[in-house]
Formats: sequence, structure tokens, C-alpha cells
Amino acid sequence: MSSDTYHLFKATAEHADVLADFSRRTFREAFESMTAPRDLEAYIELHFTPEKMCRQLADRRSAVFIAEINGLWMGYAHLKAGTPPECVKGPNPLQLYRLYVSGAYQGKGLGQVLMKKSYAYAKGKGFKTLWLSTWAKNTRAIDVYRQQGFETVGNQIFWVGNDPQQDFIMAKILPGP
Ligand SMILES: CC(C)(COP(=O)(O)OP(=O)(O)OC[C@H]1O[C@@H](n2cnc3c(N)ncnc32)[C@H](O)[C@@H]1OP(=O)(O)O)[C@@H](O)C(=O)NCCC(=O)NCCS
Repeated sequence: MSSDTYHLFKATAEHADVLADFSRRTFREAFESMTAPRDLEAYIELHFTPEKMCRQLADRRSAVFIAEINGLWMGYAHLKAGTPPECVKGPNPLQLYRLYVSGAYQGKGLGQVLMKKSYAYAKGKGFKTLWLSTWAKNTRAIDVYRQQGFETVGNQIFWVGNDPQQDFIMAKILPGP
């Protein structure tokens, strides 16, 4: 994907409302065909509020990168430092907490742009391992992560409303010095 077609920037607390709205939209788009509406909406109401987004954007352990095309938000990556699950054994781990691309732009390389930005950010901050948790039924995302060099290292339950979903935990040791 040519870099003159997209603009990447780090979101700030001022973007909380837009990020809440965009997160709702992309989450719904990704999972509404595979999740009971009540569970999907419960998750959205709990996690994608402007207040929660504002707290996360102000938190120095988090970084959210937005990919904009022609002035419109088309994807984002949210990185988050913290204690990982025990199965993540790599050194200095950072979580790729969320990675979403709008349906219209999926498969055009934007996910990879956001992943490359995530690797660069992680390395710049001294992290050496990137890990994530993804729904076992999300085969497309799992294929993309595998293609990017992530390996499955464990699993955990991820609650979407009252639905205890099985997640795979995947990790990748970042190459280079
Ligand atoms: C998963 C997601 C972020 C990937 O973003 P994307 O923009 O569609 O992915 P890209 O077009 O950048 O593809 C990334 C790489 O994976 C490869 N890829 C894409 N789809 C693939 C598939 N089904 N199988 C194997 N490889 C695949 C691409 O070829 C590309 O590699 P390349 O550049 O070397 O060719 C995006 O599809 C998405 O937002 N999905 C819905 C939300 C979601 O599931 N998020 C993850 C939650 S854990």
C-alpha cells in the first residue's frame, strides 16, 4: 500500500469520542454475523464508551494509532503494556490489544501497515515480544497473524456479554537488535 494513500497518527484523549464510535462500528462489522446481538451489544456498551476511551488514551501504557484515508478513519491499532498471561514467555512483552480495519479496506494492506507501525513502536520503546488474544473462530485474523510470524502459545476465555468465547493467545518475538 502506497504511503501517500494513508495517513498514520497517534490518537490523543481529544479523539475519545471518535475512537469510541469507530471501535463500535468496526467491532460490530467484524462480529455481528457470528455473535448473538445481546452479547455483542453488551460488550460494546461496556468497552467502547467515550469515558473508557478517554482513560485509555490518557494512559501512558497505551498507544493507539489511527490509519486515515482521504480524511476518514479506516483502521486502528491499540497497543498496551501490562502483565501478559503466563503462556507468553518472550522477553519484554507488549500486547497488540486491538487491530481493526474497516470492511471496505480489508485485504488491501492496511492491516499490515498498522502491524508494521506496531512493531516499530514496540521496538522504539524497548519491547521485544508482541502478543495478542484472538477468537478461535476468527480464522481470517489468525491466518493474517500467522502470516506475520505470530505463533499460538496458549488460550483463554474472552467474555463477550454472556458468551464465554475461546481465544487463542499468539506471540511473536520481534526481530532485530
Ligand atoms: C485482521 C485484519 C486487521 C487484517 O487487516 P487487513 O488490512 O485485512 O490485512 P492486510 O490486507 O494488510 O493483510 C495482511 C497480510 O496478511 C495476508 N492475508 C490477508 N488475508 C489472509 C488470509 N485469509 N490468509 C492468509 N493470509 C492473509 C495478506 O496477504 C498480507 O500479507 P502480504 O502483505 O505479505 O501479502 C482485518 O481483516 C480486520 O480488521 N478484520 C476484522 C477485525 C478483526 O478480526 N480484528 C482482529 C481481532 S483479534
